[in-house]
Amino acid sequence: MLIDSHTHLELSEFDSDREDVIKRAKESGVEHIVTVGINLKDSRNAVALAERYDNIYASVGVHPHDAKSIDETTYDSLKKLSESDRVVAYGEIGLDFFRNLSPGDLQVKRFGEQLELAGELGLPVIIHDREAHREIVEMLKGWKSYSVGVIHCFSGDYDMAVKCLDMGFYISIPGTITYRKSETLRDVVRKIPIDRLLVETDCPYLSPEPKRGKRNEPANVVYTARKVAQVKGLSFEDVAMITSENTRNLFKMKAAVL
Ligand code: NI
Repeated sequence: MLIDSHTHLELSEFDSDREDVIKRAKESGVEHIVTVGINLKDSRNAVALAERYDNIYASVGVHPHDAKSIDETTYDSLKKLSESDRVVAYGEIGLDFFRNLSPGDLQVKRFGEQLELAGELGLPVIIHDREAHREIVEMLKGWKSYSVGVIHCFSGDYDMAVKCLDMGFYISIPGTITYRKSETLRDVVRKIPIDRLLVETDCPYLSPEPKRGKRNEPANVVYTARKVAQVKGLSFEDVAMITSENTRNLFKMKAAVL
């Protein structure tokens, strides 16, 4: 049994066959799926989805791309949404200095505010970091209402991974670990303890080999776990079991009743 710790199943990319996608995940042994909001509207859809399916949980928050969409009512609405017992995390939040779809200084401001809001709500955070490793580590160090969290789709090196682990964070590994050029990521996975790793698809994005170029979906988290097992010299079953347990611990999710 596996858990896909980071998906965007609520997005319109899945509107035509969401039911089938969820069914295929189950058939592939994916026991739970966390579907992650990227703005207020999308967070609402994520929670609605989680309320419809037993095996889906939700996270709410505003992605750095959408930082400019935050107005004076956004945080109150997100707080309200987070009252659902299907909400297990706050995010995804963070910094993206690669695409810069919102201005950098605004991203920093909104990230700081949302860290404090998550702490106040007692929720673990899901962090997005693209080309902002140093700034992310600095801001997490300055997080006053600290709870805990995960660096999703980890793209840093071993040095950054150690800094995150030292702060109590988990590291989530996407399907890109299967790409030929992802040697830095495989190096991180090789060196850090398995009890701090999660696996994810980030679907509909980042399809692993051999599905590259197609829409991604939770069933494909199997390829990531298989690669992690190979890199760490562990069995697939151990990686599935331990990463699932890590995810349940972080997000305080109950184990599936079999
Ligand atoms: Ni994402």
